[in-house]
Amino acid sequence: MIKLWREGRSRVLVLRRKLSILLLLCLSAICGLVIYFHGKTVSYFLRPIWDTPPKPFQVIPHYYAENISLARLCELHGWSLRKNPRRVFDAVMFSNEIDLLEIRLQELMPYVTKFVVLESNTTFTGQPKPLIYQNHEQRFSFVRDKVVYSFLPGQTVTPKDPFVNEGRQRRAMDHGLHAAGVADGDLVIMADVDEIPSAHTIRLLQSCDGFPSIMHLQLRNYLYSYEFHVDFNSWRSAVYIFDSNVTSYQHGRVTDKILADAGWHCSFCFRYISDFIFKMQAYSHSDRVRYSSYLDPVRIQDIICHGRDLFEMLPEEFSFRELIGKMGSVASSFSGVYLPAYLVENPQKFPFLLPGNCTREVEV
Ligand SMILES: *[C@@H]1O[C@H](CO)[C@@H](O)[C@H](O)[C@H]1NC(C)=O
Ligand SMILES: *[C@@H]1O[C@H](CO)[C@@H](O)[C@H](O)[C@H]1NC(C)=O
Ligand SMILES: *[C@@H]1O[C@H](CO)[C@@H](O)[C@H](O)[C@H]1NC(C)=O
Ligand SMILES: *[C@@H]1O[C@H](CO)[C@@H](O)[C@H](O)[C@H]1NC(C)=O
Repeated sequence: MIKLWREGRSRVLVLRRKLSILLLLCLSAICGLVIYFHGKTVSYFLRPIWDTPPKPFQVIPHYYAENISLARLCELHGWSLRKNPRRVFDAVMFSNEIDLLEIRLQELMPYVTKFVVLESNTTFTGQPKPLIYQNHEQRFSFVRDKVVYSFLPGQTVTPKDPFVNEGRQRRAMDHGLHAAGVADGDLVIMADVDEIPSAHTIRLLQSCDGFPSIMHLQLRNYLYSYEFHVDFNSWRSAVYIFDSNVTSYQHGRVTDKILADAGWHCSFCFRYISDFIFKMQAYSHSDRVRYSSYLDPVRIQDIICHGRDLFEMLPEEFSFRELIGKMGSVASSFSGVYLPAYLVENPQKFPFLLPGNCTREVEV
């Protein structure tokens, strides 16, 4: 009796063990599949474990209100008023952000001596592209005297090493700045077209002495339109007091110092759906277009209106708290307050950049 009972029991045990092994196999197969198809997503979700955050910035407080004298503003920052304002040079790489370029030139024109605009006939990933600035030059006739345009012959074969491309860009931009007549002591802005410092920030920096000779500019991040405010953490743009011995074009981290709340960075803020498709393929992260369905215009339009991510990626965050806080869509702010002045003065020209209409035009 007991023997039979024991045998039965051990058979159950064996069966159980077999079942659990099977279950484990199934689970690991599912895990494998998930990692195979969503590897990037999984690794992004685990970023707080495998990646260390960059060194934090030393944020320099920034003050501004309308109608305060420059002397008082310099003093508020612990700086002193200059006798003569500095000359200002704005060095920008232009790809296809034509509406943002117009808004940028209008915003900064009163304070900028020369805009050094560099354009190439290929994208970062080596796709040929038309010379959009050249083809729309009449749109920029209001600022013709201030633009120093340079053409950088593109490379259809992308070099394996991204630094090769960067080096060519840097040399071309340094050459452009030189051609524009930059001299020691001038203020130089180094930024992408969509990273627009506010006019009052540049006026402050050209009028005061005493701030660090290299500072990043902290900009408000927007996605698709100034309607979708993501965070305050754009940091790549920077201002330099030009020193011919050391200053060279850069668009990465160059110092720990950053001036707070100095303007706006609007990513993927295009008028036409075709511009989104172009940018998604031209982007230095073009490997994020994992499925061709990502480029479907109907899908893109839907994502824009809902403030979701075009690549269905997780945000790049270094703590689970921030990562989870930023998952999902960016909420509409309904705000057109504190934006580039030319945009607010000409809402009919840029409806897609303001709250109220996320529908993009079909290019004719
Ligand atoms: C700005 O200051 C001037 C002179 O101090 C004053 O006349 C003017 O009313 C002020 N404007 C605003 C909007 O406060
Ligand atoms: C870009 O311009 C250069 C110089 O004019 C030319 O040799 C090259 O073929 C062009 N590339 C493309 C992709 O149009
Ligand atoms: C650049 O280097 C030269 C020679 O070393 C020096 O005389 C000059 O003062 C330097 N310029 C600046 C702006 O530091
Ligand atoms: C929104 O903008 C699109 C494209 O500019 C236009 O066709 C459409 O009529 C606009 N819709 C509204 C409600 O204004």
